Order: sequence, then structure tokens, then C-alpha cells
Amino acid sequence: MEILCGEKLCELFASCVNSKPLKRAERYRVGVDLGTANVVVAVLDEKGEPVAGKMQRAQVVRDGLVVDFVGARSIVARMIEELNEELETELTEGACAVPPGTGKADSKATMYVVESAGLEVLNIVDEPTAASKVLGISDGAVVDVGGGTTGISVLKEGRVVYTADEPTGGTHFTLVLAGHLNISFDEAEAMKLDGKNQKKLFPILKPTMEKVADIVKRHIRGFEVDTIYLVGGASTLHGLKEVVESITGVRAVVPGYPLFVTPLGVALSCP
Ligand SMILES: Nc1ncnc2c1ncn2[C@@H]1O[C@H](COP(=O)(O)OP(=O)(O)OP(=O)(O)O)[C@@H](O)[C@H]1O
Ligand SMILES: [Mg+2]
Repeated sequence: MEILCGEKLCELFASCVNSKPLKRAERYRVGVDLGTANVVVAVLDEKGEPVAGKMQRAQVVRDGLVVDFVGARSIVARMIEELNEELETELTEGACAVPPGTGKADSKATMYVVESAGLEVLNIVDEPTAASKVLGISDGAVVDVGGGTTGISVLKEGRVVYTADEPTGGTHFTLVLAGHLNISFDEAEAMKLDGKNQKKLFPILKPTMEKVADIVKRHIRGFEVDTIYLVGGASTLHGLKEVVESITGVRAVVPGYPLFVTPLGVALSCP
């Protein structure tokens, strides 16, 4: 059985997110990624191929931890309901993710959101480790620059040997921009997301990129890392890859569709 890996998996998922399901299956593997910026539900078939997905911007989680339980529950419940209708099935099980180092109580809050939305949680994984499953790598560092945090996971011969998470991510870039240009958060976010602007915003955002790069450098110290895989929504920001390379001295790679790598990894973590 050929297992789809990396970019192809993400490309297929991108084609069905918030759109029509690609196919039906006997059994589904469901991943729920409750992020600071986005809630994503990914549905795969038993072979790990994308079937359907939902994604919505939401502010129900801060720095990886649930701050609006009711809001989070209702978003996930609606997504599951819609998926059930579209797939003419009843999804009953899934996996979810938390940032590395999340304590038991906070992991439980994430689990309760998913369970109260109707899915029994079969596995809770950490985000960059989930991402590494999609990248199909056995060595290197996976760095998930999400909305609220930067998560790092170091892999050695297929095993995760170290994980860490620190609160700097896409939201911080937006806040810096809003402060610098004296505009609202939403205006700054729209400006940042427009690819045409990113080159000229680089000087304003560079210090925050250096902060992300310093975090990575600090956490991979002591490990032999020859490639850093940058995933998460903020990883495509113009110049970030180069800043990470210059500060860490390690080659960095940004895969296609970095926004979907972690959510798909969460679904693949569903047994
Ligand atoms: N093309 C882009 N260029 C720059 N930033 C982007 C782009 N697309 C998304 N982002 C940023 O990525 C962030 C969202 O990424 P992602 O969905 O990976 O985060 P999350 O999983 O919700 O957050 P976290 O993992 O930190 O809890 C937002 O801050 C958004 O502004
Ligand atoms: Mg995330």
C-alpha cells in the first residue's frame, strides 16, 4: 500500500477543505487542530488519503490553550455535523493536538472540546510531532510557526528526541505591524497576508523573525540538526526562512501548503 506523503497529501487536502469531499470510505481518521488563529478538522480514509476538511478562523485558543470552551465546542461540533452530512456518515472518533509541553489539565481542556463536539479522542499528539508524520522525515527539526506559538520538535532516526514551545507566532507579527503603522489588528493582519506587501514589510517584521529564529537556535542547540522544516501559517512570511538560516546556520525548508501540515499530521495520528 502506497502511503501519500508530504506535499501531495497537503495538495489533495487543500483541494477539499471547505469544499466537496473527494471520496467516501469505510472508516475515517479524523484530526482536530485547535489553533490560535485557525480551527481545522481533517478527515482521511483508512489509508491516510484526504477525504474532506473544514477550516475556520477563530479566536478560541490562545498560545495553544483553550480560552473559549463554548466557542471552540460549537465550531468543532458544527464542522463535524457538516462533515457527517456531506459524507453521509457519523464520525465518532478522532485525534487532537496540543503544543509540546502542555500540562495534563490543559490537554484535557482540548480533549473535552473535541469530545463534547461528539468525537471520542483516541490520541492526543503534540503539534510539531504530528507535522513530522506528514513530512515523512526521520531526522531534523520541525518548527511549527503558528498563530500564537512556535513549536519545535527534533527527530533522530525516526524518533522524537526533544520538543519545546514558545509564545511567538503569526499574531505577534501582526501586533508589531499594527503598532508600527498605528492601524488596527485586522488591518495589519490583512496587510501581512497580502503577498504583495510582504517584501516591503520585511524591515518592520525582521526583529520578530529574529526572535523566532533565536527560539529555534536555542532549542536545537546540542542536537545534530542538518535541516529545519518550517511549517504553520506564518512560515511562508517573506524572509523568515532566510532569517532562520542565517541565525541558526542550518538549512531551512518550507514545504508547500505549510498551513495544512500539522492538521493532517493530527489526522494521521488517529489510529
Ligand atoms: N501567507 C501567509 N503569510 C504570512 N502569514 C500567514 C500566511 N497565512 C497564514 N499566516 C499566518 O499564520 C497564522 C496562522 O497559522 P496556523 O493556522 O498554523 O496557526 P494556528 O495553528 O491557528 O496557531 P497555533 O499553532 O500557534 O496555535 C496567522 O497568524 C496568520 O496570519
Ligand atoms: Mg497550529
